[in-house]
Amino acid sequence: MRYDSITEAIGNTPLVRIDPAVHGLRNIDLYAKLEMLNPFGSVKDRPAWHMARPHLEGADGEGTVVELSSGNTAKALALLAGMHGLKFRSVTNRMRVPEIKELLLLLGAEIEELPGRSECLDPTDTDDPLTHFHRALSDPDSTYLHTDQYFNPRNTEAHAAGTGPEIVKDLDGRVPDWFIACVGTAGSSTGVARVLREHDPAVRVLGLVAHKSDFIPGIRTIDEVHQVGLFDPGTYDTIESVTSGEAIDGMVTLIRRCGLLSGPTGGAAYQGAVRHLQDADAELDGTGERRTAVFIVCDRAESYLSYVRRRRPELLGQVNRGHTAASLTDAEAQAEARAIAVADARRWTAEGDPRPLVVDLRSPHAYAALHIEGSVNIVDEVFDELVRGGLPFSKRTPVLLACPVGEKSLRYAALLTRMGHPDVRSLAGGIVAWRDAGAPLVRE
Ligand SMILES: Cc1ncc(COP(=O)(O)O)c(C=O)c1O
Repeated sequence: MRYDSITEAIGNTPLVRIDPAVHGLRNIDLYAKLEMLNPFGSVKDRPAWHMARPHLEGADGEGTVVELSSGNTAKALALLAGMHGLKFRSVTNRMRVPEIKELLLLLGAEIEELPGRSECLDPTDTDDPLTHFHRALSDPDSTYLHTDQYFNPRNTEAHAAGTGPEIVKDLDGRVPDWFIACVGTAGSSTGVARVLREHDPAVRVLGLVAHKSDFIPGIRTIDEVHQVGLFDPGTYDTIESVTSGEAIDGMVTLIRRCGLLSGPTGGAAYQGAVRHLQDADAELDGTGERRTAVFIVCDRAESYLSYVRRRRPELLGQVNRGHTAASLTDAEAQAEARAIAVADARRWTAEGDPRPLVVDLRSPHAYAALHIEGSVNIVDEVFDELVRGGLPFSKRTPVLLACPVGEKSLRYAALLTRMGHPDVRSLAGGIVAWRDAGAPLVRE
C-alpha cells in the first residue's frame, strides 16, 4: 500500500467476526466494523475529512478551522488542519477526559472551553452559550472555517459513501439483519442505516445512547441526543441506553478476549448488541437459520485510562474502595441518599443548628453566575477525587449537596452516607429548582 497522503488511508476498515465462544449467541454471527483503525484513530476520520475538505482546499493556508468537539472529531480536524498549514480551534463546554485534552494540545489544537448548558449550567441564562457560539460561527460573515458536525449533512454522507457500502461488500453483498451503533452526532448510524435500508429495508437498526445521568465519552444520553441536528428518531428501530459500567465491561471483553483495542463506545456497542440480540437468538434455536449483526468499534482504549481508573480502578491494578459515585447504580443512589426539598433546604440553611455546609458541585462558571449564599464550590470531578481519599468533612458537620438538577448530588449523598456520614442531603431538583422556587441566589 503506497499513498501520497495519509488522507488516502481513511476508510476501508476491517470487518472482524467476534468468536461465538465469547459472545455466546448460537445463531447469530456478530461482526465488528473496526473504525478505530482509521489513520487518526476513529470513526470520525471519515466525516472530519469529508466536512473539512471543501474548506481546506479553498483556504490558501489562511484561517482557522473550528468545531464544537472535545474528542475524536477534534483530533482528526487538528491533524487535517495542520497538514494544510491551518490552525484548528476546538470549542467545547468542558474537556472531561484529560488525556484527550493533552493529546489535542500535542496535535496543535487551540482549546476554548465555554460554559455550556448541558454540563455547566448558568441559571440566569436560558440560552446555552454553546448555542450562541454555534450561531455566531454559522454567520455568513464569520472568518472561521466551521465544519459544523452536528448539522452538516456531509457528516452523514461520509458514512453513506464509505462505512455502509464497505459493510455490504465485506458481507459478500448481503445486508446484516441488525446494525448497531452508538449515537454521538448521529452521523455514522444515520449514514450507514440509510445505505443498508436502500439495499434491504428489513434491516433493523439499534441506536445506543448513554444511560441518563451517566457519561460515556463520545456519545449522548437520550435527553441530549434530541439537541443534535442530524438526529432523526426514524433512523432507529430501537434506541436503548447503556451504562458506563456496561461500556467498560464490553471494552474489557473486546480487549482481553478478542484482541480488539476498543475504547468505551466500542464496548458499549458490543455489550448493547449482545444484550439486545439474546432474545432473537433464543427464538432462532432449532430453526436452523442463521442471522448476521454488525456493530461499530469507534475508537481505541489508550485515551481512556483515567476514565477507567475512576470507575474501575481494580482493572488498573489499584484498590477499589468503592468510593466513587460512578460505581453506584441509580437504584442504590435513590435508596441510600436523602434528598431535601427546596422549602426545607431553605429553612435548614437559614435556621439549622448547626447550619449545613452547602457544597455546590457545578462548574466555576455556573457557580460564579449564581449560587446559594455561603456555599462552597467544589466541581464534581474534584469532589470525586476528594471523596476517593475518604470523607472530606467532619461527621459533625451536616452537608447539603447541590448540582444543576439534583442527579449528581443524589449520587454523592448516597456515597457519603455509605462512607458513614450521618447527615448529608441532596438538594432535590438542584439549583434549577431552587431558582424556580424564587429562593435567593447571589452572584460572585
Ligand atoms: C468515541 C466515539 N464513539 C462514538 C461516536 C458516535 O459517532 P457519531 O458522531 O457518528 O454518532 C463518537 C462521535 O464522536 C465518538 O467519538
